[in-house]
Amino acid sequence: MKADVILINIGNLYTMDGPPGPWRKKEIENIAPLKNAYVAIKDDKIMSYGDTPVPLDIDFDKYTTILDCTGMTVVPGFVDSHTHLVHGGSRENELDMKLKGVEYLEILKQGGGILSTVRATKEATFNELFDKAAKSLQIMMSYGTTTVEAKSGYGLDDFGTEIKQLEVARELNQRHAVDVISTFMPAHAVPPAFKENPNGYIDLMIEDYLPKVKEMNLAEFLDVFCEEGVFSVEDSKKILLAGKKLGYKLKVHADEIVPLGGAELAAEVGAVSAEHLLAASDQGIEDMAKAGVIANLLPATSFNLQKNIHANARKMIEAGVPVAISTDYNPGSSPTENIQLAMQMASLSLKMTPEEVLTAVTINGASAIGRQGEIGSITPGKKADLVCLDVPNIQYMIYHFGINHTFFVVKSGKIFSN
Ligand code: NIG
Ligand code: FE
Repeated sequence: MKADVILINIGNLYTMDGPPGPWRKKEIENIAPLKNAYVAIKDDKIMSYGDTPVPLDIDFDKYTTILDCTGMTVVPGFVDSHTHLVHGGSRENELDMKLKGVEYLEILKQGGGILSTVRATKEATFNELFDKAAKSLQIMMSYGTTTVEAKSGYGLDDFGTEIKQLEVARELNQRHAVDVISTFMPAHAVPPAFKENPNGYIDLMIEDYLPKVKEMNLAEFLDVFCEEGVFSVEDSKKILLAGKKLGYKLKVHADEIVPLGGAELAAEVGAVSAEHLLAASDQGIEDMAKAGVIANLLPATSFNLQKNIHANARKMIEAGVPVAISTDYNPGSSPTENIQLAMQMASLSLKMTPEEVLTAVTINGASAIGRQGEIGSITPGKKADLVCLDVPNIQYMIYHFGINHTFFVVKSGKIFSN
């Protein structure tokens, strides 16, 4: 069969091809790069990979693009499995308060934080939101991200704005090279109009919003911010179980700031992933391991919140919890699209090895959005999503931090160079 694109002379090729995801300690221990390797691509799919020279049964002609990757490292396209991609405005006005030590939840309580982005997102037109998010997707892709999860949650009880966010995400998925997977998150904050009556908002979501969004087929996942002063464990459980009944797959913003028992809840409701987990209890970690919940850790957020605490990735990995890493790109607690920075922080702050980090943004990231069958590894038949990094090995990628190591990205078989 004739290849459309062939990468040759790859210094280190990490295919992450192997057992189905998510991966735990045992699978990660077996990761070894192929040296002087090739990858052949046909249309938008991986055709084969192996040692250079390319085997004779892989045909090519003058229309085949041959890319020489001497001295480079090639890995699967990164999956950023937790972002708040579509939103209006920015929150640099909170920086001063942050530097003076005003807490994130205090800013929210005063009507700022998430609520200020709710106002900005309501004011923005569809096209403004589309253009802003498309620009972010472009930046994400430049860092090697080829699939992004995107949450709503800046409309809340302004249901039209929630829909607007989800429709922008759907259109981005159709028009931008990067794939966008949508999560519905009206339970991102309690809207001011329901401050005295949060149960009224919970009922509204359960009875009206959740079925409507499902019917419109606008989101695959449902997420809830389970946090002190936002949604309690009981409230979150109610919302999540209602969503599950309607066919949503579940995610939980759990134990981000206060140890409420969000990790335990994620296990109890059968969530695909629990996010943040800075304050997760030992019991929560054990429950997640048993239930197979993926820990989606967001070290750029921990850094940005400036609390000097981090998710206990080592304990989670030792306990058998699969770990994913994401940017959490959002205008408040993580204004960055840079997944390579999140990877470097995962290693340096959470003490994850480069192999664990690579797993976290490829096969485990794909698993966190239920796409481990299609993406997350360089496997014949899977989508041809990969990144060629201008680094001699992945240790170097982690070590030389804060810059963009991407040489080029292949997304669905198409080449995008930086
Ligand atoms: O993942 N924790 C809640 N949601 C986001 C922040 C959203 C915002 O501040 O706008 C997070 O940190
Ligand atoms: Fe988040």
